[in-house]
Amino acid sequence: MCPSNDGGAPVVEAKPAGDPPDSLRALPQRIRQQEILAELGVIALQGADFDKLLAEAARLTAEALRAEFCKVLEHVPSENRLLVRAGVGWDEGVVGKASIGADLASPAGFALRTGKPVISNHLENEERFRTPEILAEHGIHRAMNVILQGDGRPFGVLEVDSRSEDEFVEADLAFLQGAANILGMAIERERHGRNLEAALERHYVLLKEMGHRVKNSLMIVTSMLQLQARDIGDPTLTLHLEEAAHRVLAVARAHDQLFQGADIERMDLGKYVEGICKDLDDSVAHCVIQTEAQYEIEISTDRAISAALVVNELIANAAKHAYRGTTGGKIRVTIAGAGKDKLSISVRDEGAGLPPGFDLASSKGLGMRIITSFVEQLNGTVEIRPHKPGTEFVVILPR
Ligand SMILES: Nc1ncnc2c1ncn2[C@@H]1O[C@H](COP(=O)(O)OP(=O)(O)OP(=O)(O)O)[C@@H](O)[C@H]1O
Ligand SMILES: [Mg+2]
Repeated sequence: MCPSNDGGAPVVEAKPAGDPPDSLRALPQRIRQQEILAELGVIALQGADFDKLLAEAARLTAEALRAEFCKVLEHVPSENRLLVRAGVGWDEGVVGKASIGADLASPAGFALRTGKPVISNHLENEERFRTPEILAEHGIHRAMNVILQGDGRPFGVLEVDSRSEDEFVEADLAFLQGAANILGMAIERERHGRNLEAALERHYVLLKEMGHRVKNSLMIVTSMLQLQARDIGDPTLTLHLEEAAHRVLAVARAHDQLFQGADIERMDLGKYVEGICKDLDDSVAHCVIQTEAQYEIEISTDRAISAALVVNELIANAAKHAYRGTTGGKIRVTIAGAGKDKLSISVRDEGAGLPPGFDLASSKGLGMRIITSFVEQLNGTVEIRPHKPGTEFVVILPR
């Protein structure tokens, strides 16, 4: 909701009798004030940079009131002071640095504490308030202050000051309050924006933490399967359990890689698979994995995990079947774009080659079934290219 500054009747010093009223003479200025209010509203709605908005508001407010000085004071509760956050007309070293007391004895402090606007047309004769040092130093003769509401607690005070002998009148005050209301709205929005950013940041940290926990839990499952594999006393069962442990480990690795980038929903497939291959290098110690990955192929995280599990099976097969009983066998993994909307993943070895009559579709092995079903889920294809020596599996996926 738009904050309102109707904090009660303005605190105005007594005027000598016989002063001319705010007459027709002031009409062009009143029209300009209306225009400036509209201008300020547009700037505030555009969501400009907050500091720029405050500076622009100070400049326009001074212009509308034909005053040489204006400042936006931000309340700093811990110091009970009002910091000059933005302003025009001030000597160097004032904006962003100088501050005034936020107690009831200063005009700005009074406006902040009571919510009442303050007009002081003769600061030198002022008995209600002490004149803040900055005003005295700049030879200020008259000032007007209104509270700047934020969301919940007040943000501070909008103050306009002048050296001239003229006087601020009620209509000027009405303008100043209008400007303060518009600024208050922008302040409220800025605070909401900041809270939202903080909430998003926290959400990301929590998600990251969840990712680590999932990974840790899967590592525990892996260790349990490995322990069981060692204790079971049946070589075939031991092998099956070890293979199951490796697959769970591959999923854990995928989760570990997942939260390294800034975007959780999409990831750079090349970088991701490169990381997975680096990790796998240790578990296939008798082979050397060489990765050639093109970067900036972004795909959704879910698809990247499935693709990484396919790569895991293909590397495991090359290590297990192509290079059985040998050391130093090369496994080459290549990730590259294929045309405008496809990508290719190739895993190539220079080993024993597939058994004669091998048929991917009718292969009973769990590895091949994982590969074919994941590739199908990803709407891709697998092609087997026999080489001399070795075998290459090429997976083509839509991006
Ligand atoms: N790179 C390769 N080089 C040679 N033979 C391979 C290669 N990849 C797969 N094979 C052959 O294809 C078969 C099927 O592989 P698959 O991964 O389905 O089963 P597996 O590796 O034997 O067991 P698992 O279910 O643990 O993966 C293998 O048994 C092997 O004979
Ligand atoms: Mg296999």
